[in-house]
Amino acid sequence: MSTKPRSTKAPVVSRSGRFAAGPAADVAAFSESISFDWRLWRHDLLGSMAHATMLQKIGVLSKAELKAILRGLDAIGREIAAVKFPWKPELEDVHMNLEAELTRRVPAGAKLHTARSRNDQVALDVRLWLRDELRALAGELRDLQRVLVSLGLHNADVIIPGYTHLQRAQPVYFAHHLLAYVEMFSRDTGRLFDCHERTNVCPLGSGALAGSTMPLDRELVARLLHFVDEKGRPRVTQNSMDAVSDRDFVVEFAAAAALIAVHLSRLAEDVILWASAEFNFIKIADAYTTGSSLMPQKKNPDVAELTRGKSARVIGNLVSLLTLLKGLPMTYNRDLQEDKERLFDTADTVRACVRLMAAMLNHTTVKADVCRAAASDPQLLATDLADYLVKQGLPFRQAHHVVGAVVAFAEKAGRPLNQVSVAEFQKISPKFGPDVRTVFDLKRAMQRRTLTGAPGTSEVKKQLARWKNLLR
Ligand code: ARG
Repeated sequence: MSTKPRSTKAPVVSRSGRFAAGPAADVAAFSESISFDWRLWRHDLLGSMAHATMLQKIGVLSKAELKAILRGLDAIGREIAAVKFPWKPELEDVHMNLEAELTRRVPAGAKLHTARSRNDQVALDVRLWLRDELRALAGELRDLQRVLVSLGLHNADVIIPGYTHLQRAQPVYFAHHLLAYVEMFSRDTGRLFDCHERTNVCPLGSGALAGSTMPLDRELVARLLHFVDEKGRPRVTQNSMDAVSDRDFVVEFAAAAALIAVHLSRLAEDVILWASAEFNFIKIADAYTTGSSLMPQKKNPDVAELTRGKSARVIGNLVSLLTLLKGLPMTYNRDLQEDKERLFDTADTVRACVRLMAAMLNHTTVKADVCRAAASDPQLLATDLADYLVKQGLPFRQAHHVVGAVVAFAEKAGRPLNQVSVAEFQKISPKFGPDVRTVFDLKRAMQRRTLTGAPGTSEVKKQLARWKNLLR
């Protein structure tokens, strides 16, 4: 590696007169962030427009200068959108690139950085970017919820075994299983809104760490950038050192996103199991599966597997961010530049997983006959049998024991539970009446589950209708 300074020519936005030369080439390559923070450009331009507007209001810029700056920033924005902007790695980051190019075109651009530091500028840009991302992700989660509800509605009478310990436990409607995830994603959305609440505060005016001696109008900037509460009152950060040095709002997002990723991973695991020959409950459309390079018969649920796999990096990003912050002295430290790749990766990964899972589930059909066969296993109603005895006055612990004995008897006799005769039942306990085998009527069993939140016939219908209405 060369230690020779890359260039002795001062860039347009210089590092001030303090330095005789630019950084060594390997230092520049090591410290640049333009390769990833360029995507903050839109928000950086918006922040500069608001800052310039305020600078004119307090007399730092003339009206003509403001006009030229706004026009220049707008032109730069259009060039970036058209992929015609000359990004320069030697200008380190998105902030320097945009300001340098503006100043090259508009002399008054040299006044734009008045009372502003890249420290409050980057905090602003990340907040603005994340605010948009939070809203977009919440929208995508809603789409996924809609797909889950619609799949439930299309298979409203399908019953499957519910599992604990991955062992068949009790019957549930397939829709009830899907609605469990709808509930999880609803709490996830709430967490995104919570994060939005704390992200939606304007840090500009905090300067490098200690504000400014210039008479800035921070509230005006906040209003221009829609950092406002529900009553339209501006929200600005209340401590300049806190504002430039903490990234807790990024951590909050990373945590909320990690939970989304974990929920998606669990859903993915269910899908993978259901698509296996052993379960065979669903069929995923070919377009959302892949084949094997060796085994011609294979059809693999890669979308679900990758969703499960990608949750690992999203969890890792959260840990990286927490670790990044934990030892930082006040206030801004260059370490903070490391937040962006973790943040962007989390956002991109979770967005893609939500979207792909929704698309895949939208192209998935349920094999009702296979589900019916699995749900007709009478053992699933062993608990109902215990409840039957409780209703005959037997304490539950004894009822549990008696039904255990019936299950053991049936197993030994090599017969399903519902093939045990009334006489055999009564030999095990006289509490069993002649109507005991009606317990195994699955349809009636599902109708008996009337508690709120239970997988009963009318309750699941109600929940499907509730969600359909909420997601309208
Ligand atoms: N690229 C930097 C970051 O992402 C911007 C702020 C740089 N500030 C500084 N004083 N070097 O954090």
